[in-house]
Amino acid sequence: MTNIINKTEALVKSLFAHETTGHDWWHIDRVRNNALYIAEKEGADVVICELAALLHDVADDKLNASKAEGQQKLMDIFAKIDLKEDAKIKILDIIDHMSFRGGQNPPLETLEAQVVQDADRLDAIGAIGIARAFTFAGARGNVMHDPDATYVQKSQEEYLKRQATAIEHFYDKLLKLKDLMNTKTAKELATERHQRMETFLKDFYEEWQPGRRTE
Ligand code: ADP
Ligand code: NI
Repeated sequence: MTNIINKTEALVKSLFAHETTGHDWWHIDRVRNNALYIAEKEGADVVICELAALLHDVADDKLNASKAEGQQKLMDIFAKIDLKEDAKIKILDIIDHMSFRGGQNPPLETLEAQVVQDADRLDAIGAIGIARAFTFAGARGNVMHDPDATYVQKSQEEYLKRQATAIEHFYDKLLKLKDLMNTKTAKELATERHQRMETFLKDFYEEWQPGRRTE
């Protein structure tokens, strides 16, 4: 099993080495470590969680020209690792169902899917999440903040068209993630990370307009 994991790690690492929009190899590595930690505490299948975490962004729409291209990359990796068919099916199922989409998806059915989704969401909040949001906005050419922005919930289409600022992204997604965690372990980890974002936003507004705090 160590062999399969090492091989998967090497393949994913080479795919993500030059990614600069927040999905670089170290995002994958952090999600894997979060997943291992949560899986152990929650009694989930550790190997399935680790492999799904390593593969979770390979087929992401944002990183591929088409859905088919992303699926092909996953299949290419599966062809190179010696994994049982039922494990592949479990992993594909996890990856397929875990993305955010406004939190409107039906709850994930397997504990392993819940663990990996929590692991990915944890990496979007807290100090790391703050850094990733600004990295992403910079890579997209979006400004960090516009005090005239309204922070209202928009449709995904409108949101992308409007080039939301990094600060808006906190209200659109990041501040909601704490309450969307599936597992008790992730909920505990999310509490402190959420607090760090609240503190950051307070400090940010304070420096933007000294003496006037905007909550
Ligand atoms: P993942 O697939 O890893 O869950 P996403 O692809 O949704 O995450 O986003 C990658 C990173 O970029 C995350 O940290 C996310 O919060 C951030 N991000 C996504 N959209 C925006 C945006 N419009 N503005 C700023 N940051 C964003
Ligand atoms: Ni991810």
